Amino acid sequence: MKVLIVGSGGREHALAYACAKSPSADVVFVAPGNPGTKNGHKMQNVPIGVDDLDGLLNFAKKEGIDLTIVGPEAPLVAGIVDKFKEAGLKIFGPSKQAAQLEGSKSFAKDFLKRHHIPTAAFEVFSEVTPAVEYIKKMGAPIVVKADGLAAGKGVVVAMTEDEAIKAVHSMLEDNAFGDAGARVVIEEFMQGEEASFIVLCDSVRALPLASSQDHKRVYDHDMGPNTGGMGAYSPAPVVTDAVHQRVMDEIINPTLQGMREDGMPYTGFLYAGLMIDKEGAPRVVEFNCRMGDPETQPLLMRLQSDLVSLCSKACTEGGLEGETCWYDPRPAVGVVLAAHGYPGSVRKGDEIHGLDADFGDDVMVFQAGTKEQDGKVVTSGGRVLCVTALGDDISKAKARAYEAIKKINFDGMFFRSDIADKALNRQS
Ligand code: AMP
Ligand code: GLY
Repeated sequence: MKVLIVGSGGREHALAYACAKSPSADVVFVAPGNPGTKNGHKMQNVPIGVDDLDGLLNFAKKEGIDLTIVGPEAPLVAGIVDKFKEAGLKIFGPSKQAAQLEGSKSFAKDFLKRHHIPTAAFEVFSEVTPAVEYIKKMGAPIVVKADGLAAGKGVVVAMTEDEAIKAVHSMLEDNAFGDAGARVVIEEFMQGEEASFIVLCDSVRALPLASSQDHKRVYDHDMGPNTGGMGAYSPAPVVTDAVHQRVMDEIINPTLQGMREDGMPYTGFLYAGLMIDKEGAPRVVEFNCRMGDPETQPLLMRLQSDLVSLCSKACTEGGLEGETCWYDPRPAVGVVLAAHGYPGSVRKGDEIHGLDADFGDDVMVFQAGTKEQDGKVVTSGGRVLCVTALGDDISKAKARAYEAIKKINFDGMFFRSDIADKALNRQS
């Protein structure tokens, strides 16, 4: 089979790595990919950007691609799945309509409310005055979110009313997020521990992947601004068997059923960002219509099932019937190595040393913000690498990942040193 992965980050490197392990995959094209996917086993980069839907479609037709898997949200929200399906090509992901679960926060919140799926109380505003009145009525802490896609940066968790009001002004009046912030969702602040719960959907059935947990703040102890994610581990001990069952019964299955009832059946990866309270009750923080980055890296390092086969089957309604996911029982920990300035404006072009070191079988260095320049691999984005390791327990996986990091360096490189500590604290 010929597989095409759309995207160029660490998540896509991990997707390509998992697909390449499938005996049925002869070649895994990655568009546009990065130096990690250029040199990977069975992998081949194609210089087509994720926004060039026509270019991707023409390539898939010409090459006779058997299965396309889409990494990032932008092409999904732009309708890549509808386009490929119209052309009779197999592609794993939600339709443009269904991708609104991520593409519009107000769509997602209205959907959750309509189908009685647990989430924070909220209101949607496009005018400043009623938004400010609502903030004053509800009090702080309170959360202000730009409605549209804002690369994970359109959320302000405000500890004071002033901070929330400032966020409303900057989104609605100063257009801090352009059209994405023309409407805002203002919602109740939820207490608890976050976890990422990602499932494969065939529109009727959801096959849960292992649980995982991201680290969104840039510095240790969850300090500093939010990022796309500074590290992740799998499994997440906060998702006990009982919590897992509640998430399936109260969130995932009602979401699939609700999407069908609303006439937009959901196929593809569905990522529920959850807040789990002390009693183990899960509520939805957000939906993503794709895998998480960096959650994918530890998740897929553990996956032993054939990802190509699962995604192919899930493209058919009900195709996941009787399927299960097999995992390496060992936990995995992934630590993001970020570039100078991240998550603000980042410096690019720093040479990365140590990529050719011998890391051993239980370590993978997934590339993200990298590119080749004059025969060297240099930084080209905020999250540069995700060093991911398996270990007999979480503490060993963590130690393995940090040991591997010692072999890598570039000017301005920084990383969190406490990835997976939440899991370790919970165990002790
Ligand atoms: P989102 O992009 O909606 O996932 O929000 C980014 C981050 O903001 C989440 O991962 C949470 O850490 C935090 N957050 C979002 N909504 C809430 C909420 N209602 N209560 C508490 N924290 C939240
Ligand atoms: N790691 C969070 C996300 O992918 O949205």
